[in-house]
Amino acid sequence: MTNDKRKAAVIGWPVKHSRSPLIHGHWLKTHEIAGTYEAIAVAPDDIQSFFEDFPKSGLVGANVTIPHKETVIPFLSSLDKAALEIGAVNTVWLEDKDLHGTNTDWTGFLDNLDQEARGWDSKRNTALVVGAGGAARGIVYGLNQRGFDRIVVANRTLERAEVLAKGFGHAIEPIGLAQAQAVVGEADVVVNTTSLGMEGSDLMPIDLAAAQNECVVTDIVYVPLETPFLRDAKRYALKTVDGLGMLLHQAAPGCEKWFGVRPIVTAELRAEIVADLNKTDEQI
Ligand code: ATR
Repeated sequence: MTNDKRKAAVIGWPVKHSRSPLIHGHWLKTHEIAGTYEAIAVAPDDIQSFFEDFPKSGLVGANVTIPHKETVIPFLSSLDKAALEIGAVNTVWLEDKDLHGTNTDWTGFLDNLDQEARGWDSKRNTALVVGAGGAARGIVYGLNQRGFDRIVVANRTLERAEVLAKGFGHAIEPIGLAQAQAVVGEADVVVNTTSLGMEGSDLMPIDLAAAQNECVVTDIVYVPLETPFLRDAKRYALKTVDGLGMLLHQAAPGCEKWFGVRPIVTAELRAEIVADLNKTDEQI
């Protein structure tokens, strides 16, 4: 048990639906840490003054979420290789009055699969990533770190997948969404990083019937927890991993940085967040 009351927060706009205060609140309570974690709404126009004044704010660090993950970068004294390559920061901390940043979305993605689908990376041949937005960048970085031979990025707008692939400077294969079907049968893992499959959106134009028996299918969408894409995968008896675990796992390094305790993602934590999702049904 520590005595100094450290303060951390999640910074976003809007931020009121963020589950980060619940996640960190759970860890503060279960580890008896005398700290606090709150949600702070910072409008895009206020980002400069907020981060310039950060050393005087009383916060030891923060999670940074939409729409500030990229715009925070100019206010940091340093960012690590992962954040630099991904081009986005989701965790910041003060050290000697300077603000530093990293990206834990990619480790959250890998840690979630490691915990929920042990052996998912045993072959490391082909990964199929659907979508080429901000979330896809962290996932592609993670898959590349894990040593996949071939990472195919399928996107509705081919140019965006091409830009993503070029930005990484290694062998990422960009294709249009319509070409994704041809890769399904070769994939060890299929990742949906788009909003396809959220309530009210279009369905994913990919049929998983051709997937190998051992293919793992995962979605970063966690509202609903079981997306139509994951339901489809289950119908073909494929191993599925929902997106909530990535949210839980990406939070752990921040807790360690600010409060000095590396927490684990337990069934109790997950149940607490699932109960909240069932209450409000909104993903942010
Ligand atoms: P995020 O940062 O969460 O990844 P984003 O940058 O807005 O969000 O990216 C959203 C991704 O979902 C993109 O890959 C987008 O495809 P485009 O680049 O073609 O826009 C994809 N996406 C969103 N709606 C889609 C739809 N109806 N059909 C296909 N892809 C869609």
